[in-house]
Amino acid sequence: MHFIVTGGAGFIGNHLVRHLLGRGHSVEVIDNLHSGRMENLEGLDNDIKFHKIDILEYDKLKNIVKNADGVFHEAALTVVQESYDKPKEYHMVNVVGTENIFKLAKEFGFKVVYASSSSVYGNPEKIPIRENAPRKPLNPYGETKLQDELLAEKYSREGVTIIGLRYFNVYGKGQTLSYAGVITKFLDRLKEHNPPIINGEGSQVRDFVYVKDVAEANLLAMEKKIDSCFINVGTGKIISILDLANMMIDVAGMQVKPIHGKPLEGDVKESQADINFARKTLNWEAKMELRDWLVQILSPKKI
Ligand SMILES: NC(=O)c1ccc[n+]([C@@H]2O[C@H](COP(=O)([O-])OP(=O)(O)OC[C@H]3O[C@@H](n4cnc5c(N)ncnc54)[C@H](O)[C@@H]3O)[C@@H](O)[C@H]2O)c1
Repeated sequence: MHFIVTGGAGFIGNHLVRHLLGRGHSVEVIDNLHSGRMENLEGLDNDIKFHKIDILEYDKLKNIVKNADGVFHEAALTVVQESYDKPKEYHMVNVVGTENIFKLAKEFGFKVVYASSSSVYGNPEKIPIRENAPRKPLNPYGETKLQDELLAEKYSREGVTIIGLRYFNVYGKGQTLSYAGVITKFLDRLKEHNPPIINGEGSQVRDFVYVKDVAEANLLAMEKKIDSCFINVGTGKIISILDLANMMIDVAGMQVKPIHGKPLEGDVKESQADINFARKTLNWEAKMELRDWLVQILSPKKI
C-alpha cells in the first residue's frame, strides 16, 4: 500500500515510517521540519520520498496525498507550555492543518489515522479513562486536539473514515521534550550524574507507552475494517513521576535523591488508559515494559 505520513521527521512519525517500510509499504513523508529533523530519517533516502512542506499549504498537500491509500497524520505543534504563548499558531497548525487532511480525505476517498491525545480528557473524573469519558482539556494544546476530534466527527458523518488514536505518554528513542519528555529530562540529568528534577511533589501519575508499540497501533488502525472512532493508545498501567524518578535512579545504579521544583501549569494529575477498546478493535496491546526499556538504555555501563 502507498501511505503518507505527515510529521514523519518527528519523534513518533519517524518510528512509524520505519515500521511501515518494514512491513513492505511505500511511504512519502510531509514535514516542515519545525521540530522534526532529517537525522530522524537517516538511512532512508532511497526508501522514502520526503517533501519539506507545511500542512497549511493546501495545494501542495493535495498533489502529494491524492494518490494515497491512506494518510497517517502526526504533524502538529506539540509543546503544551508553548501553546499558552502561541494559541493562534497552535490553532492554525493543529486545527486548520488537520482539517486540510480531512478535507482532502473527503475529496480523494482515502482513510485517515491521526494522532489525537489523552490531553483531550484533561483531569479525568476517574481512572482508567474510557473513550466515552468527558472531554475537558486543560490547556490550549489539548483544546486544539479536542477541536480536531469535533472535526473528525463532522467529516466522519460526511463519509470519511477517520480513526483518532488518543496517545498517552509516548516514550522511546528520540523523544522530544513534550509529553513523556519527562523521561528524557531525567535521562539527561542522570547522564550528567545529577539527580532528576520533579515538577511538584511527583504524585501525578502517567501511562507511558513505547513508541514502537504506538507505530504498530497506527498500522493496525489503518488495516482493520473499522468505523470512525477514537481509541486510547496506552498501556493501562501507571507510575507516579516520583516512582519513575526513583526507578530511573535505581536502574542507573546511582545513590541520589530526586529534587522537587515548582508544579507545572495545566499539568494533568492522573492519566491512565482503559485499553479494552484498543484490544477489541485493534487486537492490540503494548508489548514493551517501561523498566525493560530503561534497563536497555540506562544500565550503569551505558552512562
Ligand atoms: N509524544 C507524545 O507522547 C504524544 C502524546 C499525545 C499525542 N501526540 C501527538 O502525536 C503527534 C506526533 O508527536 P511527536 O511527539 O512525534 O512530536 P514531534 O514534535 O516530534 O513531531 C511533530 C512533527 O510535525 C512536524 N510539523 C509541525 N508543524 C508542521 C507543519 N505546519 N507542517 C508540516 N509538519 C509540521 C514537526 O516538524 C515534527 O516533525 C502529534 O500530533 C502530537 O500532538 C504525541
